[in-house]
Order: sequence, then C-alpha cells, then structure tokens
Amino acid sequence: MLDFGYYCMDCMQGMSEFPDKYFDLAICDPEYGRKEHGGINRGTYAVQKNGKRLYVRDGGYENRGWDNEPAGKEYFSELLRVSKNQIIFGCNYFDFPLVGGRIVWDKCNDGSDQSNAEIAYNSMTNRVDICRYMWRGMFQGKSITEGWVQQGNKALNERRIHPTQKPVNLYRWILQKYNIPKSWKLLDTHVGSASSLIAFQEAGNKYVGFEIDEKYYSTSNERLNQETAQISMFEYLEETGSNCQDTAPGRQP
Ligand SMILES: C[S@@+](CC[C@H](N)C(=O)[O-])C[C@H]1O[C@@H](n2cnc3c(N)ncnc32)[C@H](O)[C@@H]1O
Repeated sequence: MLDFGYYCMDCMQGMSEFPDKYFDLAICDPEYGRKEHGGINRGTYAVQKNGKRLYVRDGGYENRGWDNEPAGKEYFSELLRVSKNQIIFGCNYFDFPLVGGRIVWDKCNDGSDQSNAEIAYNSMTNRVDICRYMWRGMFQGKSITEGWVQQGNKALNERRIHPTQKPVNLYRWILQKYNIPKSWKLLDTHVGSASSLIAFQEAGNKYVGFEIDEKYYSTSNERLNQETAQISMFEYLEETGSNCQDTAPGRQP
C-alpha cells in the first residue's frame, strides 16, 4: 500500500493500492469533458465598482489535453470502493448516479463567459449548501466568511498555476462547514494545482493525492512545499509562543 503523500501517477493505479473504505473522505475534481485543459484565452473586460472597465486576464494556459471526456463509471466505482464519503465536483457532467446532497460553489463572477457556479455531489448529507467565493481572473474573494466581497489587496491574491484551479478557500470552507475531524484520512484523485492538499495539510489531516500530468505535478508540488513550509513555521511559532519582534536584538521583550 502507498504511504500518505502526493504522487505523480494515474489515480486508477493509485487507488488500486488501497483496501476498501480506507479513506474517510474523498474530495475530488475529475475531468468534466469540457475541454477546459488550457489553450483558450478567456481575457475579457469587467466593470469595476468605480465604473471603469478593466481587462481581466483569465486563461492563456498551455493546452495539455486532459479534459476531452468526462470521468467514466470505472473511476466512480473505484472511488466509492476506497472511500467512505465523497465530495465530487462536476457531478452535473457525469453519467453516473450520484444521489445525495449538493454543494453549489457560487463564483460571484457575473458577466464572465464561464459558469457562474460549480456543483459538487456530497455523500455526507442530502442538503444543498452554497459556498460564495469570488473567483474570476484577478478578482478573488476576501475571505471564507466574506467570499462575495472582492479582496482589495491584489498582493494577497492566490497565484493561479492551473487552468481549472479551485481556490484553497473553497476546500477550507468544505473542511470547516462539515466539521471534518483531523483524524480523517483524505483523498484527492485529481490534484491539479494542489489547492486541496494545501487545505488538507493546514487542517492537519493525513492525505493521499494523485496527479497524472508531470508538468502540473511538478509546479503544484512546488506550491505545496512552499505553503507547507509556511504552515510549519506558523505552527512552530504558535507552539513555542515565539514572536520575532520580541526576540529581535536590542528590543525590550
Ligand atoms: C479538473 S482538474 C483538477 C483541478 C483541481 N481541483 C485544482 O483546484 O487545481 C483535473 C486534473 O486531473 C488530472 N488528471 C486527469 N486524469 C487523471 C488521472 N487518471 N489520474 C490522476 N490525475 C488525472 C489532470 O491533469 C488535471 O490536472
């Protein structure tokens, strides 16, 4: 069996390594068959609060050709075998019965040529829950609790490295909303940009992630390592009660 971690491999091969119901929760975002694999320039003008038109660069990623067909029945059967609970984005595109709750991610991106929302299947409830978090080019949400408000400081925006990248805050919202225990083992079969794994790591959960494309794997693994290093530093500072300013030479504690 594979250890916890992030692997560059086909998730079908990866999942075959694990026993039935090994993972407590799989949060996955497989291919929808919409050719959203790059190669499309989505730049458009958007009207800002002050009425000015601003060119929003959105797209321009290299075509990596992975989104020609939606994930098939074999994938879902294997995913349901290895996991007790599932949240699966893109459930409106799949020819597989996913009867249960729904998460609607409202991207607060009115006026864009892309979908206004994405829908996920949620096996943990029968409810429909809405996460509002702005995601359109450089327009991003302020926080999980005020996701419909634009982040005022673009320097704080999440860097985008993948054509179908979801925000880390969307995964944070899921973990918080459903009170996912730290002890739960998590799985993401289609990691892409590693937004999911960053949230899993931050929450303190053990996880396994798969990404088949070497180029995406390499850039997202680098992103994950950078974020993980930061998370470890914050945890260390919290645990030790250290404060850089207090200990700086020449300063009074
Ligand atoms: C919809 S994207 C995931 C985006 C991700 N949720 C994010 O926030 O960045 C799907 C990803 O799955 C990868 N992929 C496609 N088939 C795969 C397979 N059989 N095993 C693992 N990864 C696969 C693609 O290369 C692509 O990066």
